Amino acid sequence: MNSTKTLHDSVQLGELKLQNRFVVAPLTRQRADKDSFIPNDVMKEYYTQRASFGLIITECSQVSKLSDVFYWSGGIYSKEQALGWKKVVDSVHEKGGLIMLQIWHCGRSANISQLGGKQPIAPSPIAINYKSRATGEDYPVPHELTIEEIKEVVQQFKQGAIYAKEAGFDGIELHGANGYLVDQFLRDGSNKRTDIYGGSPENRSRFCLEVIDALAEVFGYGRTALRISPTGRFNDMYDSDPVGLLSYLLPELDKRNLAFVEFKRHGALENRAVVYPDRKTPQEQMPDFFRIIRKLYKGNIIANDNLSIEEAQELVQEEVAQACSFGYKSINNPDLPLRVKNGWKLNENLDRDTLFTQGPKGYTDYPFHNQE
Ligand SMILES: Cc1cc2nc3c(=O)[nH]c(=O)nc-3n(C[C@H](O)[C@H](O)[C@H](O)COP(=O)(O)O)c2cc1C
Repeated sequence: MNSTKTLHDSVQLGELKLQNRFVVAPLTRQRADKDSFIPNDVMKEYYTQRASFGLIITECSQVSKLSDVFYWSGGIYSKEQALGWKKVVDSVHEKGGLIMLQIWHCGRSANISQLGGKQPIAPSPIAINYKSRATGEDYPVPHELTIEEIKEVVQQFKQGAIYAKEAGFDGIELHGANGYLVDQFLRDGSNKRTDIYGGSPENRSRFCLEVIDALAEVFGYGRTALRISPTGRFNDMYDSDPVGLLSYLLPELDKRNLAFVEFKRHGALENRAVVYPDRKTPQEQMPDFFRIIRKLYKGNIIANDNLSIEEAQELVQEEVAQACSFGYKSINNPDLPLRVKNGWKLNENLDRDTLFTQGPKGYTDYPFHNQE
């Protein structure tokens, strides 16, 4: 179906009214304070620079010390972290922007140097089958969560949502993508449980839906969202039947009337995937990714991964997606929506060496159009 909708039109996603359909994709940039994981002034400036996007989704924010892979990531498990985020949020609001927190637990991909001798946690005792980027070492075999421990993790997410609400965020997005804890439960390559949290798509979706419901108790469903990457391979992930999983999960999400689901298709991050000869490729599993999703999900869709402006425009016009999120393009174009609207050239220079370094270099020094 073709419509006259464009990326520049406003859109209502649940209770969020976006001024346009450009979304800053969640991007870990490791600029918070190292030991406290408190968001700071350079982060405030970075996010505020992007207030002309219809919506900013923050970097993934960990719900506990054990739930983190990276150093210098802004956490959401202490009052001080919430206060740090509040400065970011207030500043984005002053510029008329909307900002959601991406809430996260990394599960089996935890950085062992941050675990203080503890084992990472996961649905099943299956390690990631390559070396950790953070430590250069093998990933340890994770501890299989008991049902009681699963409930505790759900509560950690809820407490994180309470802090996020105190910080004034406009909503909350659960990170269910890229092979972290929620994704580890969803997919059958990492979830071999035989209890109510494993086996059928219904059982594998249970943890995700319990966390969504816990977040919505704090924010309401109209300000709660989920990100998933059902065919992604990053962090050694696989599901033998992603369409089967989605055929259960997405109608369940539809019942809840979320603000949106952000779908990340198989893309550039997958370069480090282990190749298993017996596994189907993502393209074999879901050839026309977004159009398959559109048939399975009635609610609002944010599309992501390696989208050109033209493809994003097409998805919005055909109402396959209500909005599109941009990762790399939002790093080097803080004013991306204005550049596209006015026909100004996009900045193509991206410094990969400063993606995960600290301080303003390669973070807040990308030029606005009028500074070029
Ligand atoms: C530096 C960097 C950090 C990222 N951090 C996150 C993150 O914190 N949470 C998340 O869900 N995805 C994260 N991603 C994935 C991006 O949100 C996005 O899916 C990916 O960059 C593909 O979109 P793009 O082609 O528009 O950049 C990250 C990607 C990059 C390059």
